Amino acid sequence: MLVAQRTGVTRDEIARQLAETRERTLLLVSGLSESDLRTQHDRLMSPVVWDLAHIAHFEELWLTRNLTGPVEFAEMPGMFDPFENPRAVRGGLDLPTIADTLATMTRIRAEVLDILARIDLDSDAPLLAGGFVYAMVAQHESQHLETILQTLQLKTGSAYHPPVRRQLPGGRWTAAPGAMVRCAGGRIPVGTDDRARAYDNERPRHTLSVAPFWIDVTPVTNGQYVRFMQAGGYERRELWTDAGWAWRTASGVTAPAYWLQRGDGWVARTMDEIADVDPDRPVCHVSYHEADAFSRFAGKRLPSETEWEVAASWDPATGEQRRFPWGDAEPTPLRANIDQLGFGTAPVGAYADNVSPTGCYGMIGDVWEWTASDFAGYPGFASFPYREYSEVFFGSEYKVLRGGSWATRPAAIRTTFRNWDYPIRRQIFSGFRCARDD
Ligand code: AVJ
Ligand code: FE
Repeated sequence: MLVAQRTGVTRDEIARQLAETRERTLLLVSGLSESDLRTQHDRLMSPVVWDLAHIAHFEELWLTRNLTGPVEFAEMPGMFDPFENPRAVRGGLDLPTIADTLATMTRIRAEVLDILARIDLDSDAPLLAGGFVYAMVAQHESQHLETILQTLQLKTGSAYHPPVRRQLPGGRWTAAPGAMVRCAGGRIPVGTDDRARAYDNERPRHTLSVAPFWIDVTPVTNGQYVRFMQAGGYERRELWTDAGWAWRTASGVTAPAYWLQRGDGWVARTMDEIADVDPDRPVCHVSYHEADAFSRFAGKRLPSETEWEVAASWDPATGEQRRFPWGDAEPTPLRANIDQLGFGTAPVGAYADNVSPTGCYGMIGDVWEWTASDFAGYPGFASFPYREYSEVFFGSEYKVLRGGSWATRPAAIRTTFRNWDYPIRRQIFSGFRCARDD
């Protein structure tokens, strides 16, 4: 097994993945001014230049220092250590210029490629098995790109103008909104033992007893969500938990983020585009509390992350777990609305192949889906290679989100992937689908 994982990843493939990821990073920031890159646009987010420098220093730490010597640190000490300098204070740091930051990125990448050219890729070192540490660093950069897109969406003043826009399919969903499918449950495996690409929090694979349940065929659409709003969903105390109502009243929120009332309808801003809210697209930029209140309004509930993963990956006909809802083929922007360049959500059901054996559409891409679950380690969890990626966030403060969004890169999503955030957050590209008991 370990041997099988070590084979198959070549120096060229690693170099190509690092280069391709960097190319995307530079594309996304290419049209931004020095001031756009250096300003802290929101206290929830870093100045973009901080993300760029942090990407470079994380790469230097793991692909030069920790790779050639003993693992010293989990994050590079100093200005770009996220724990030393939490997001809220990053706007006040003495940040480098863009030119210096780009030069640092280039310098570090050259050192990384130099080491890659001579390192023993077949070594038994756990960091190297299957090319793990290289995949981890590329995934880290990809994740920060989604973070940067959240920042650019938050940015007001001059809105972000995407450098390209890929045409999204326009297909229309014809089933009734809120249609559900039944999952029979049983003894079903979730998680993975993959040590080449998966994060520690996705391991180990383990089998759970899952009670039968029903789950929505698609994510909840804007059209469904507007009906919740029109029915007074934001005013009806009984639809909200105590924590949800506290957030709802303190924040004064009455619609998803980036929605604006126009006449008797709604428009939404996506980067520099303002358009009528499309009733056929998944609702995006809602908090866990809004998702939870909507589900109660619909007479449903949010799925647990186990239910979500079973509905996305379990094939009852073959008794196999799929890496993606459609099978094991790698995710591409033709299979699912991922990889950023569409710059927005697509109508639900627009990707005919993006369907799981259970019959759920759109589980990969478009919007991260809130689940009812707290972020915790699986039974037998062992942190690797550093506690600060996952373990320090375990506990009841965070809720798990699944499935990736339009802003997620292919290397950073699979049915076992677990994301997490505070239940009040909605700058992330977050939506949901509902479930109910059998
Ligand atoms: C997995 C998205 C919650 O942004 O905090 C980036 C990813 N970890 N650098 C985050 C991450 C370290 C992480 N999330
Ligand atoms: Fe990071």
